[in-house]
Amino acid sequence: MDNQVEEVKRKIDIVEYIGSFITLKKSGRNFKALCPFHQEKTPSFYVSPDRQFWYCFGACQEGGDVIKFLMKWENVTFVEALKELADKVGVRLTRLSFEDKTWQKKERLIGLNTLAAEFFDFILHKSRYGRKALEYLSSRTINPKTIKKFQLGYAPDSWDSLYKFLLKKKYEVGEIFEDGLLVKSDRGSYYDRFRGRIIFPIKDPRGNIIAFSGRSLEKEVEGAKYINTPETPLYHKRETLYGIDVVKDSIRKEGNAILVEGEFDMITPYEHGVENIVAIKGSAVTPEQLMFLKRYTNRITLALDADTAGQEAVKRGISQAENLEFEIGVVSFDFGKDPDEAVRNDPVRFKKVIKSPVPIYDFIIDISKKKNSGNDAFSKKKIGDEVVPYLASIKNPIVSSYYVKKLSNLLDVSESSIESLIRRVTRKKNQRQIFAKEKKSEVKEERELMIQRYLLSLVFQHDKPYDMCNAIFKVLSSSDFSTPSHSHLTEALLEYQRKHPAAFALQSFLKTLSPQLLPVFDELYLFASADLDFKNQEMKKLIKEVKKFSLKRKISELLSEKEDLSDKKNEQLKELNQKLNQVEKTITTL
Ligand code: CTP
Ligand code: MN
Repeated sequence: MDNQVEEVKRKIDIVEYIGSFITLKKSGRNFKALCPFHQEKTPSFYVSPDRQFWYCFGACQEGGDVIKFLMKWENVTFVEALKELADKVGVRLTRLSFEDKTWQKKERLIGLNTLAAEFFDFILHKSRYGRKALEYLSSRTINPKTIKKFQLGYAPDSWDSLYKFLLKKKYEVGEIFEDGLLVKSDRGSYYDRFRGRIIFPIKDPRGNIIAFSGRSLEKEVEGAKYINTPETPLYHKRETLYGIDVVKDSIRKEGNAILVEGEFDMITPYEHGVENIVAIKGSAVTPEQLMFLKRYTNRITLALDADTAGQEAVKRGISQAENLEFEIGVVSFDFGKDPDEAVRNDPVRFKKVIKSPVPIYDFIIDISKKKNSGNDAFSKKKIGDEVVPYLASIKNPIVSSYYVKKLSNLLDVSESSIESLIRRVTRKKNQRQIFAKEKKSEVKEERELMIQRYLLSLVFQHDKPYDMCNAIFKVLSSSDFSTPSHSHLTEALLEYQRKHPAAFALQSFLKTLSPQLLPVFDELYLFASADLDFKNQEMKKLIKEVKKFSLKRKISELLSEKEDLSDKKNEQLKELNQKLNQVEKTITTL
């Protein structure tokens, strides 16, 4: 197994591979990018070709090899990622099944769902129970090709037919329940969750069925119109986009994702040739969904329902989307209550409308204007209050001044009064952010540790590592490093220099490191590339700072020793204090 992992990794170049997902820019001997795993504006994601390793020095503080990257990218387990990569480079994996319990379970549940989907498909097409459902689908103009594409099915109006079917297929009640297909009654018995409903399999981007959604056949429904799989080991609603497996390439190609609320709102336009469309299932767009979409596109078009709930959803989604620097447009239809109805009523007009979305800020001004239609000072104040927070988040000065002008015209006040309102909002926001930052830095690594990592990283990244070594270790020794792994690494480095005084060779040096030290090395190796405060600081100062930290630590160690201070200790203390004074003096005069 380990050998196979190594073989897979050897056959994939990490720079090329990660570069096929995100744009990497050369930066010294490494590559950098905006981290795909958190929101940021300046790159803190680095990839090292030498080490075949990536690391995010921003919010993630995490890194790894190509497998780890794919695990995070697709949100899959180690074995899933390994399998995908092995397939890609033609390595046959053996003896995998017992290796990964999480994946084992997921795979089994996916198998279960696949089987359930076949059952629903069979009932819809091959049994007399499906007739009504087929009629229903056709009344909503869903054609057979679409039914097949989305694997729609029908759950018969029965308490246990799926349950019995799955038991016969050797699945156990516990796992069928865990998968969300069964409901447990108060008396402890189990029954089918989906009964008498059109079934929409919900899939992950790779086409695995992770959940189901079932719609009642009634037009006017008494109970729930839709019933969905609850959260399970496979299904996390916040991360899911209905239809993504089918449309992800179209979204990339179009450079735009149309976001709708429901299954039919996705499927019907798709049937009419609008293919860059996904559903969020409900009206709340989550940060997880947006992060995911960001991998495919920088533009989204919100096509949510025309009702007020839809409008509120638009507003809630926007701050998230703004953070991710999406270009956001909104479309609304007055010829249908939702996209499904609109496209059926007038496909031509539908396509025209979605081609020209209203920029989100115009949309927000419009709805506020409609809501506060009076011509009095009060209505105007309200519009200002509602709109300004959104305008304050606009980064681009041209876009911003455009909307300042627009709002000032609308409210008939000066532009500068709008600008001062925006400043007030921004000030408040900044205050909140500073507060948040302070909190964050408490949990962040201490400065001492950061400098140590930085200095060591500089050595290894340098064209002539020994030059850097000599500069640093003239002042510092391995015992000055507060972390044992950093001391060990330093010792290994100095030892290597003694043995190979002529030249430093990274690969041969790595062979001298213990397996425990390797991950430490990888993590700090990229550190110096990262755009950190240190970059602009003089190295001499940093070295002295580490020395100072180290001396202070030694002093406090001596002081904290319980026994009375012997003369010898007093001597030591005096000496350390002198050194400290010296270092402090030189630091301030540097
Ligand atoms: N939804 C849900 N559970 C509900 C109601 C809605 O999960 N009880 C989700 C469904 O994915 C649905 C979407 O929210 O497609 C939008 O809801 P709604 O606007 O009520 O759907 P309609 O367009 O009215 O549904 P349909 O077209 O099927 O009548
Ligand atoms: Mn609808």
